[in-house]
Amino acid sequence: MIQPSLDRRIQSLFSVVLASILVLGTARLVLDILKSHNCRLYNGRQDREKPVFVLPKDRFEEGCNVFEGQWVWDNVSHPLYKEESCPYLVKQTTCQRNGRPDSYYQNWRWKPNQCTLPRFDPLKLLDILRGKRLMFIGDSVQRGQFESMVCMVQSAIPDGKKSFHRIPPMKIFKAEEFNASIEYYRDPFIVESISDHATNLTVLKRLVNLDSIAKHGKSWEGVDVLVFESYVWWMHKPLINATYGSADDIQEYNVTTAYKLALETWTNWLESNIDPRKQKVFFMSMSPTHLWSWEWRPGSVENCFNESYPIEGPYWGTGSNLQIMKTVGDVLQELKINVTFLNITQLSEYRKDAHTTIYGERKGKLLTNEQRSDSKKFADCIHWCLPGVPDTWNEILYAYLLQNHQKFL
Ligand SMILES: *[C@@H]1O[C@H](CO)[C@@H](O)[C@H](O)[C@H]1NC(C)=O
Ligand SMILES: *[C@@H]1O[C@H](CO)[C@@H](O)[C@H](O)[C@H]1NC(C)=O
Ligand SMILES: *[C@@H]1O[C@H](CO)[C@@H](O)[C@H](O)[C@H]1NC(C)=O
Ligand SMILES: *[C@@H]1O[C@H](CO)[C@@H](O)[C@H](O)[C@H]1NC(C)=O
Ligand SMILES: *[C@@H]1O[C@H](CO)[C@@H](O)[C@H](O)[C@H]1NC(C)=O
Ligand SMILES: *[C@@H]1O[C@H](CO)[C@@H](O)[C@H](O)[C@H]1NC(C)=O
Ligand SMILES: *[C@@H]1O[C@H](CO)[C@@H](O)[C@H](O)[C@H]1NC(C)=O
Ligand SMILES: *[C@@H]1O[C@H](CO)[C@@H](O)[C@H](O)[C@H]1NC(C)=O
Repeated sequence: MIQPSLDRRIQSLFSVVLASILVLGTARLVLDILKSHNCRLYNGRQDREKPVFVLPKDRFEEGCNVFEGQWVWDNVSHPLYKEESCPYLVKQTTCQRNGRPDSYYQNWRWKPNQCTLPRFDPLKLLDILRGKRLMFIGDSVQRGQFESMVCMVQSAIPDGKKSFHRIPPMKIFKAEEFNASIEYYRDPFIVESISDHATNLTVLKRLVNLDSIAKHGKSWEGVDVLVFESYVWWMHKPLINATYGSADDIQEYNVTTAYKLALETWTNWLESNIDPRKQKVFFMSMSPTHLWSWEWRPGSVENCFNESYPIEGPYWGTGSNLQIMKTVGDVLQELKINVTFLNITQLSEYRKDAHTTIYGERKGKLLTNEQRSDSKKFADCIHWCLPGVPDTWNEILYAYLLQNHQKFL
């Protein structure tokens, strides 16, 4: 790989494409605030505690690396839900409704090499989450995983027994008879930043407070299962403005350094706030982007638009920064409590076919026909269609929750 071309790629990743999703995320939140007036009050009834039976087939073999494997065509078991029957999806993810002509991307199942993932059972998950809260924390990619999880369970719950609330920066789905909630907390950098404020339209001037987390942390206290993610917002440029120590001392930090400092702030928070006997913590690895088709089809100059099939490996795109990957690994290794690292990057790398492309939205609106005809400029190769790849991340999360079930009460 010659250096100048690599630089050009990083340049285009970090300025054009990301700038557009940052603006998009902001518009989305403003819409959410407007919608939050529709909140209903609810008063759920709880059943008696019931034991959850985890059968041998619900567990994968101890020692199996579920992140190594392949995508197999399976239009019988997948998708796990229908796009049109899940009322909670934001426009950004409903690719079919938005006009995407092919739907093959919904029919692939992840098959680990050494074992099989348990079949997803929404009632079993709800049993495990009875009287508990599961919270996804991160940016709009993580919001996709949250919505995916809600869609995976909601069809098992009759109308009137579930509710959905938008209370920025949160979204909360409740299964009332289980007193279980699945929640999303928007927080693109995990630590605090000026981009946390939904109405602050100056998102492109990012400023991250690398040692501040207490405000966010208040909302995470006592949550039973926490699933963190943070990547794409860091990657706008190789340097990022940040503070550490004094709030007035703004400096440009190397992103790798800044990311490490932020994760350390986070792990300090975990060590003094998490009770590992009662709470479980997960960290999602980076969600890959497919911005440059020459990476999987040398000579072409497109992006993920018009891709209908997964890549047959091996493949690793330059958008998934290996220094950041290593930083996460190093920080988690030193942590005194267990955090389960869900390393979904490689399996998602193969899925160039599964992004929203031109069938998503920009600044809170679907693309116009004119924008759609300029796929080079307007295709979104960062977010994923639903049903789709984030469902697989949740099948893996589910597998881990089952795996550790007795230890998890
Ligand atoms: C499932 O896939 C097979 C093989 O490609 C195809 O023959 C069949 O028609 C598909 N079934 C549905 C319901 O799409
Ligand atoms: C419902 O769940 C919450 C945690 O999400 C818990 O604090 C509360 O005690 C539960 N209520 C009942 C009646 O079990
Ligand atoms: C919004 O962003 C500006 C700078 O871009 C910053 O000065 C201000 O504090 C931010 N507002 C909030 C509420 O964080
Ligand atoms: C950031 O730091 C890493 C590790 O120290 C280094 O490899 C990389 O070149 C630095 N990047 C910049 C833009 O300075
Ligand atoms: C940091 O902030 C200064 C002043 O606003 C700005 O000129 C500079 O471009 C910013 N650096 C980055 C990496 O965004
Ligand atoms: C999309 O793919 C089809 C067939 O693979 C091809 O005929 C068409 O020209 C492609 N469109 C674009 C805009 O690349
Ligand atoms: C995640 O998986 C990738 C691909 O298998 C591997 O290169 C990387 O080291 C893993 N990351 C960590 C922190 O283990
Ligand atoms: C972390 O998990 C491993 C494997 O499940 C276990 O052996 C170890 O005791 C745990 N460590 C802590 C500090 O809970």
